Amino acid sequence: MKPYDVIILGAGAAGMFCAIEAARRGRRVALIDHAKAPGEKIRISGGGRCNFTNLDIRPERFLSQNPRFARSALARYTQHDFIARVNAAGIAWHEKTLGQLFCDGSAREIIAMLCKDMAEAGVDLMLATRIEDVRHGDGFIVATSAGELHAPKLVVATGGKSIPKMGATGFGYQLATRFGAELIETRPGLVPLTFTSEQLDEMKPLAGLSVSASVRYGRIAFCEGLLFTHRGLSGPSILQISSYWQEGEAIEIDLAPDVEIATALAAEKQMRGRQGVSVALGAHLPEKLARQIVARAGLVGNLADQPKAKLQALAQDVSAWRVRPVGTEGYRTAEVTLGGVDTRGLDAGTMESRHVRGLHFIGEVVDVTGWLGGYNFQWAWSSGWVAGQAV
Ligand code: FDA
Repeated sequence: MKPYDVIILGAGAAGMFCAIEAARRGRRVALIDHAKAPGEKIRISGGGRCNFTNLDIRPERFLSQNPRFARSALARYTQHDFIARVNAAGIAWHEKTLGQLFCDGSAREIIAMLCKDMAEAGVDLMLATRIEDVRHGDGFIVATSAGELHAPKLVVATGGKSIPKMGATGFGYQLATRFGAELIETRPGLVPLTFTSEQLDEMKPLAGLSVSASVRYGRIAFCEGLLFTHRGLSGPSILQISSYWQEGEAIEIDLAPDVEIATALAAEKQMRGRQGVSVALGAHLPEKLARQIVARAGLVGNLADQPKAKLQALAQDVSAWRVRPVGTEGYRTAEVTLGGVDTRGLDAGTMESRHVRGLHFIGEVVDVTGWLGGYNFQWAWSSGWVAGQAV
């Protein structure tokens, strides 16, 4: 049995980053994954261009039962540290919107950078390797399809449950429970919302249509794109709110956040009263959507025919459209898993378990979930980096 100082389970963003850091500190590192290739989620991320971080990383943009937990790791390894790394590797990037940084070329460049760093640091990368058992006694013994490995430190970086088709298993949660960690209930995050068949009958004809919208749930709102689909609502603003939305509750959507619709319609009525209502509304919304909202409100005729109250109610339908989703598309399409290993059982500076010394949890398996826009990879880099300094 080859001796290791650290065994890392999961060669995703967090596992690879931790492996590099630990190996650069002279640790003998084995990194195990059941997949045939490392960083598969990096490869498909950001539409193939990997939104690898965000210029505006802030702890309050991460969801966790313990909102303070992520502060330490995010402060010790920042977005600027990762950007410097990407620059040093000669990877060209651009800011798309809202501080979101994407590769100009391909997400594969990020994977190639990490693989090169791992090879140079001497990480033993064991792909297509099944983890059969993990035992703890004198250190950790990991039984795999390639034999048994032994090390005093074990890092769990097996990610969440999202996109099972890509090898997500929930394995890390089972392991955490076995080692006495508490779990915060998991649920899909950054995921499209679904609706009743009656609501869908209205949405389906609009499938493919996108608008800039402000989507609110309680005190949190996101103003980004919204997309009508055959299955319901999607687009960045919906994905963002899905991480906060609670089942059974309604969300409120402003379909024209840059316009005071009631005022605009009243002014149009004054100036061009003979104009059709949907034509007037169509100045602020895609025509098809405007026609549907007017039809739903039961308004016929032109602006001049409408009493003030009816136009105000119509404006309300546009600016404060209340809809009650029935659910989400689930882990099948969710970008992330909310919940996970309870941070109260972890040291924020090292990601080490308070229950079992030498056992660390990093990345998505931990109850820290970022907004859409590069926040989740930054959590993977930051949590992987701090654990890499500690093991
Ligand atoms: P990750 O899931 O990346 O890695 C876990 C690894 O563990 C995998 O390689 C898996 O094969 C392995 N594993 C799991 N179970 C195992 C077992 N039983 N045995 C052995 N190995 C096992 N975020 C962002 O910031 N910007 C973006 O652009 C995107 N885009 C995006 C697109 C899509 C489609 C998805 C699904 C997700 C994103 N994300 C994202 C989220 C981001 O991908 C995610 O937060 C990180 O990949 C989490 O990194 P981890 O290393 O923690 O887990």
